[in-house]
Amino acid sequence: MFLGLDLGTSAAKAILIRADGAVAGVGSAAYPISQPHDRWSEQNPLDWWAGAINATRAACAGVEPDAVLAIGLTGQMHGLVLVDAEGLRHAGTHAVAPVRPAMLWNDQRTDAECATIERTLGGRAACVRATGNAALPGFTLPKMLWVRGHEPETWAKAERVFLPKDYLRLVMTAETATDVGDAAGMLLIDPATRGWADAVLSAFDIDRRSLPTLRESGSITGDLTVWASGQLGLKRSTPVIAGSGDNQTAAVGAGVVAPGTGVLSLGTSGVLYIHTDAPRLDLGSPPGRLHVFPAADGVRGTRGGWCSTACMLSAGGALAWAAGVLAPNVAIDDLLREAAVAPAGCDGLLFLPHLTGERCPYADPTARGAWVGLTSRHTRGHLVRAVLEGVALTNAMNLDLMRGAGVGLDSLRVVGGGARSPLWLAIHAAAMNTSLTCLASDEGPALGAAMLAGVGVGAWDTVREAAAACVRTTDTIEPDQALVTMYGEQREKLSRVYHALHADSTTHTR
Ligand code: XUL
Repeated sequence: MFLGLDLGTSAAKAILIRADGAVAGVGSAAYPISQPHDRWSEQNPLDWWAGAINATRAACAGVEPDAVLAIGLTGQMHGLVLVDAEGLRHAGTHAVAPVRPAMLWNDQRTDAECATIERTLGGRAACVRATGNAALPGFTLPKMLWVRGHEPETWAKAERVFLPKDYLRLVMTAETATDVGDAAGMLLIDPATRGWADAVLSAFDIDRRSLPTLRESGSITGDLTVWASGQLGLKRSTPVIAGSGDNQTAAVGAGVVAPGTGVLSLGTSGVLYIHTDAPRLDLGSPPGRLHVFPAADGVRGTRGGWCSTACMLSAGGALAWAAGVLAPNVAIDDLLREAAVAPAGCDGLLFLPHLTGERCPYADPTARGAWVGLTSRHTRGHLVRAVLEGVALTNAMNLDLMRGAGVGLDSLRVVGGGARSPLWLAIHAAAMNTSLTCLASDEGPALGAAMLAGVGVGAWDTVREAAAACVRTTDTIEPDQALVTMYGEQREKLSRVYHALHADSTTHTR
């Protein structure tokens, strides 16, 4: 059996799978987030380690420790964990206390550092060429510069920089390693070489020795120490595999491991992820709305592919908001039945879903939501259907953006809570003019990490073999061609509405 450990933002999740992908155990353990100041978001890495122990013990309850052959790691990307020399000495024998709380992916304090990074590298397009991505406040390099500028004593103490899941690896194995995909979310990987971006390191005076060793996702990075195996209830020397960031391993868990395959995740946010053979940089206008990272299908010496991801912030979140304000006492399924009665195109009603600002297709934190085109004939069903359509049209815009960056799509899978609504799937298929395939089980990033664990110890030779063995699809929804043209026109109208309402946000819009 193989264990996948996902260091999520709200909880650690563990999943134990057999070699046919069947789930043998799951466990999770929640931990808090602290927001001590406006726009700060932090966690205590010692809580992560406690959560990892509890989740692992729950997933493996009743299983002989000898049966667990390898562990794969995944988790929230971009976070910054700083460890001093004493922490490094204690790794593998104690829970390592970092020099300050971890700064998370959703921490927004580093606007000024992002501007400095892009200016220093020669502008946003130059930053995308050098790192694959625009400098976003969530990424790790801006956080490193923030600590150096605002807490110089803390920075001076820090010996080594870790991403969240790699802090767990340090505690479990005493090794300092990461995978190329998660490392790219630091803004420190050169897409041309898939290695550390030396030009960026020297531009910001970052010592390479402070960074972990780079590995492909399906590689062994070390073994559990005696102490860590006792804490986790596992066999000593169990191999720990590199894994990757949560988006990349979720794609592995969805079987999206070949160029031209993609997965749309309809959770609180909507994430479109497409696997590519090479980095397809987003040099559109503005550049860098798409994230470009190495994918998690590399094994030991064999390099993996790449991925392009587009994240719209309010997908299921917009539906949950609308349901809450329009019909707090109506079950969501009843509300969706009302929406199904409203006609496609909603008799002209449009919904802009940017309720919490936007990342893609508009990199615009000031973007806002709206229903536009209301008449007295519109019903609650129209309002809800417009939300479903507004989200789908925005995902369709993101697919357009990807195609513009040279990303091809042959097949698309769908996961997340939104995938349970046949109506929403049909709307997405027509709005995106693509078929959508559902999965038999939707276990998320931890499943992909468990599959990578199996690959790491040779149960499967490649990540594609692991996907063929473990991932089952169910229904495929075809686009209703009678609606495709209409949704294409709606997409144009929705884009015009955004631009009309956000004429001031010119720096952020296409
Ligand atoms: C990816 C991102 C999030 C985090 C947290 O770029 O910011 O998906 O990985 O889950």
